[in-house]
Amino acid sequence: MVDVIRLSVFRYDPETGSKPSMQSYEVPFLRPGMKLLDALNYIKWELDGTLTYRRSCAEGVCGSDGLNINGVNGLACITPIAGLKQPVHVRPLPGMHVIRDLVVDMDHFFDQYRQIQPWMKATTPLPEHERLQSPEDRAALDGQYECILCGCCTTACPSWWWNGDRFLGPAALLQANRWIVDSRDEAMGERLDQLEDAFRLYRCHQIMNCMEACPKELNPTAAIDNIKRKILARKS
Ligand code: FES
Repeated sequence: MVDVIRLSVFRYDPETGSKPSMQSYEVPFLRPGMKLLDALNYIKWELDGTLTYRRSCAEGVCGSDGLNINGVNGLACITPIAGLKQPVHVRPLPGMHVIRDLVVDMDHFFDQYRQIQPWMKATTPLPEHERLQSPEDRAALDGQYECILCGCCTTACPSWWWNGDRFLGPAALLQANRWIVDSRDEAMGERLDQLEDAFRLYRCHQIMNCMEACPKELNPTAAIDNIKRKILARKS
């Protein structure tokens, strides 16, 4: 069993004027089941308090610690350290503006999420208690609603790297599909109108990096394909 973990971590502090660099650290193997986030916490708390990164829940729920780990996007808090090739290369999510060290600017990502209008739109009067769904209609949301908006999929997508100003990217489009397939939502036509665009939707070329990167094992490629099929179906 390894008793020391070697890490090479991306460092960048715009206030120093220094160029970005990789910094080496050695962290003790703390316990079976140790995750990459445990190693980053050890660095920050015991070795180098200047290391900057985001984290909150440590349970794969909040989506705040999406990182590029040995070249693959994932969540530090659910990535077992024991299975990683050493030194473990830890970098910020690719294709994003780095604010400092492992922290990237998520503003544009969340702006794209807002663009798909992620809330229920219904004009029929609200029933006395709630809008009901059949078990089958509810099951259609499985694999859609679990997205935690960590950005791992979108920042793994070459189409988004090249056209991220106009292509909405896998996470936003998965969320768009989540509302399109919701039987309670009454704005499918409006949603498809908004998405039917050479860049917003059709810059997805089914590269499928998003599917590989998603830590929740969701399939944004299939969701995007469903949106394209819906647009095609209404044409015919
Ligand atoms: Fe919340 Fe990792 S810290 S998802």
